Amino acid sequence: MAAQEKARSKGLTQSEGDVNLSPRRRSWAAHSLDARTQAMLDEDARLFLHQSLSSPCLNVIKRAQGIWIEDVQGRRYMDFHGNNVHHIGYGHPRLVEALKRQLDELPFTPRRFTDEPAIALARKLTEIAPGDLSKVLFATGGSDAIEMAIKLARIATGRFKTVSFWDSFHGAGFGASSVGGEELFRSHGIGPLLPGTEHVAPFACYRCPYGYKDRDGQPDLAVCRTTCASFVRYVLEKEGDVAAVIAEPVRAVPYLPPPGFWAEVRRACDDHGALLIFDEIPNGLGKTGRMFTAEHAGVVPDILVVGKALGGGIVPIAATIARPGLDVAGDRALGHYTHEKNPFTCRAALTTIEIIEEEGLVENAARVGAHALVRLNEMKTRHPLIGDVRGLGLLIGVELVSDRAVKTPAADAADWMVYYALDHGLSFKTTQGNILTLTPPLITTIANMDRALDIVEDGIAAIESGKADLA
Ligand SMILES: Cc1ncc(COP(=O)(O)O)c(C=O)c1O
Repeated sequence: MAAQEKARSKGLTQSEGDVNLSPRRRSWAAHSLDARTQAMLDEDARLFLHQSLSSPCLNVIKRAQGIWIEDVQGRRYMDFHGNNVHHIGYGHPRLVEALKRQLDELPFTPRRFTDEPAIALARKLTEIAPGDLSKVLFATGGSDAIEMAIKLARIATGRFKTVSFWDSFHGAGFGASSVGGEELFRSHGIGPLLPGTEHVAPFACYRCPYGYKDRDGQPDLAVCRTTCASFVRYVLEKEGDVAAVIAEPVRAVPYLPPPGFWAEVRRACDDHGALLIFDEIPNGLGKTGRMFTAEHAGVVPDILVVGKALGGGIVPIAATIARPGLDVAGDRALGHYTHEKNPFTCRAALTTIEIIEEEGLVENAARVGAHALVRLNEMKTRHPLIGDVRGLGLLIGVELVSDRAVKTPAADAADWMVYYALDHGLSFKTTQGNILTLTPPLITTIANMDRALDIVEDGIAAIESGKADLA
């Protein structure tokens, strides 16, 4: 408990999302939730182990359809968070129908056997994956799929060390937490973690950890010379025996890499015999306006991991996709998961990809995301509270600052915005305390986006005019 209190007092719980035990959360609950909802939340809190960012919970949901979630009091919210599972919208009728049929045909496949949906999904993934990535393994969650990738890299290279970024998140398992870079998942009683998991400071041009000044959120490459990429090379060289570099090609915070970053890291990996593993669990399958985020970077990783939206917002499934030369562990167990070739989860994933392709959802994400960025950048010219706007497709971050010159994080304002938005029918989360993180589904229309951004702008205007009840 002492460690938990210490962590809370340092504000660490704000790394991945808004704080679930804040006074504002309590006062919002008091004015927004009726007695029945509160009783369900109390029962939930009595039954579940409490943990940061989750239980005790915010509200009780009874319906999820399209971009909407609805609470038990009948209030609807546009879900601009959705854990990034809802690319095709919740409860897509075609997916629901395919899953009902699958249940009637074949509900499960025990290990040692395979089935038609698993083979078809593997084929589909290898057809759409970048470059020559063409061998797959399935798991039930992203964390497991990341750990399969780490095991494969160890076996293939005969090395055990990794290089990843501080502030990153790759899942909650011990291996994934070890390569992750957030104190919340690594420290204060959680370790010891995997040895050999080296970390470097990430790219984050608006707040460069190496101390370089940005130019309105953009890197000044002539000055910084992509030091963040050079550092990856430096560590690979100094260690000399790193198995893999693991990273999200675009950070979900969000932060975009400076131009040339991944090309240089790819070269450094090749020069030092390390594999490159891309974690596309939240942002693969179209979120950023390309089917895979690697396509923006113009590099092909050795292993790519997808998850979350792969299950269509209904079932849990993730995939590790490797180049064929890495098929070297035939006598080892990389991920002997019970649901490895589950026909139900595989059908969900296959149908989800078909929906994304046939409904043009990647293109829609690019179009609506570009529109949102234009509007948000206009908003930035009117609202000094907005320090930085960044994003790619429907991965969007709006960083709030109380002083633009010194970039003081406006965490209280961001927290207030979460509840203001809920009161106006919009759900999103904050990251790192002061970043409004908007990750709507790929089916979001321009009209949906405009409505959400009106709510965001009205909330920001309320704060700036002193109408908001800030601490
Ligand atoms: C970048 C990234 N990697 C890995 C994971 C872990 O996925 P899962 O929760 O399915 O284990 C997440 C989940 O939020 C994520 O955002």
